[in-house]
Parts: sequence; structure tokens; C-alpha cells
Amino acid sequence: MDSRPIGIFDSGIGGLTVLKEVIRLLPGEDIIYLGDMARLPYGTKSRETVIKYALENAHFLIKQEIKLLVVACNTASSVSLSVLRDELSIPVVGVIEAGARAAVKATLNGRVGIIGTRTTIHSGAYKKAITGINPHIKVIEQACPLFVPLVEEGWTEDDVTVQVAKRYLVFLKDARIDTLVLGCTHYPLLKKVIQSAMGDEVRLIDSAEETAREVEGVLQGGHLLCKNRSKRGIRRFFVTDDPERFSEQGSLFLGEEIKEIQKIWIG
Ligand code: DGL
Repeated sequence: MDSRPIGIFDSGIGGLTVLKEVIRLLPGEDIIYLGDMARLPYGTKSRETVIKYALENAHFLIKQEIKLLVVACNTASSVSLSVLRDELSIPVVGVIEAGARAAVKATLNGRVGIIGTRTTIHSGAYKKAITGINPHIKVIEQACPLFVPLVEEGWTEDDVTVQVAKRYLVFLKDARIDTLVLGCTHYPLLKKVIQSAMGDEVRLIDSAEETAREVEGVLQGGHLLCKNRSKRGIRRFFVTDDPERFSEQGSLFLGEEIKEIQKIWIG
């Protein structure tokens, strides 16, 4: 049993979709969340830059004596996970492997679509993870860079978002995929629009839910779960910029009010 907190970081508010699922599964755990608002978006930046940011974020959280690190950002997971695992002595959970495993399990026709930021798609991390489990699966990828700003604007069901989704996703629809991985923290908020663009027969994989299950599994396996699972865990929030915006937009992602946000400098 281990009472230290879980550390989670993301480029900003998007990782709160992962935090939400972790809280749902593990309500008793203390959690420290870091949103790197000053340097977002990660999804348009180079691999080297995102690795540098990820390492700095991880070291900040390590100083808070966390027992496990969750890289809630798909972009950061796709390029920095192996570096973080080499560097840190605690377990590191990303969002890619969990989503990939769920997609392999879900597909019936062996055709899986991946959507994410440009950097995530260019990394090929999802494709590698999926074909590493089953080399016969055909993986079709599509970057959807406009989805992040649309979600941040709160336009999760607007006509403009419906049009953008149709345009991005027509390629995947034509490719006859039966499973689509929502490979970005923001995309679970667009589930309705994405589902209607793809049709009901396509199964959407929410990396946030799958990641939370993996966190539970790793904690269980390492005897790292907290002692009193029935208490409500303490949640602390750190941001590198703009606590007000984090609080305002974050509540949309988390589904509850976020109080007590501390601003810090990193890098
Ligand atoms: N958190 C990022 C991701 O999941 C999306 C936002 C960004 O580009 O920073 O890829």
C-alpha cells in the first residue's frame, strides 16, 4: 500500500479527460495534475521540443514525490514515453498502448483508424503499437489539427465542427474502418460529432478510459494502491500559465469545478 500521489501531466486542460477517468476508477487516490498551459499546443511542435517539455514536466512531478506518472497527452506519449521510462525510476503510463490494445480487441474486420494531432500522427506511435500486437491489422491515420481549437472554443456540437469532422473523416470512412481511436485528449468531447460522421457501426476507442484501467492495473500489480480506497483523494493542480483559463475551460473537461490552482515556472 502506498499513499503517495499519482502524477499526471498534459500540455494543458485536455488531460483532464484522463484525470476524470482515473478519478472514476480510483476515487481514493491523491493526484497531482500539471497543465503546461504556457507551452501548449504540443501537437504542432517538433518531436525534440515535446520530449524536452515532457522531461521537464516529469521532473517537476517527481519532486512532488509521486508514485506513478501518467502522460495524459497523446502527443507527449507518442514521442517521449521511452525516454521517460529510461530516465525515471517510477512506473510511467502513457495513453498510446492502452488505446492500441483496446482497438486490437475491438476490431472485427482488421481495419483501424487513428486520429490525432499532426505530431502524434507523424510519430506513427499508434500504428507501431497496434501492428506490434497484431501485424495483420491495417492502420489508417488522419491528423485532425482543427479539432483541438474547436473543443477549446467550446464548439463541441456546432455546425462548423460537424463540417470539419465530415471533411477530416471522409477518408477514414472510405477506408471502411470498423474501429476508430480518439488519439488526442480533446477528442472524447467530440464523440457525438465524430460518431455521427463515421456512422454507428464504427466503434470509437476513448484512450482516456483505457489509460485509467491501465493505471489501476499497474498500481495493483506493483502493490501501489492507496490504503483507504473509500476516502476522497486530494487533487492538486499546477499550471505554467493562465490559472483562470484553466479553471474555466477545465471544468468542461473534468465535469466539476476546479479550485486552488497553483502557477509555477518550468524550464
Ligand atoms: N494534449 C494534446 C494531445 O493529446 C492535444 C493538445 C495539444 O496539442 O497540446 O495530443
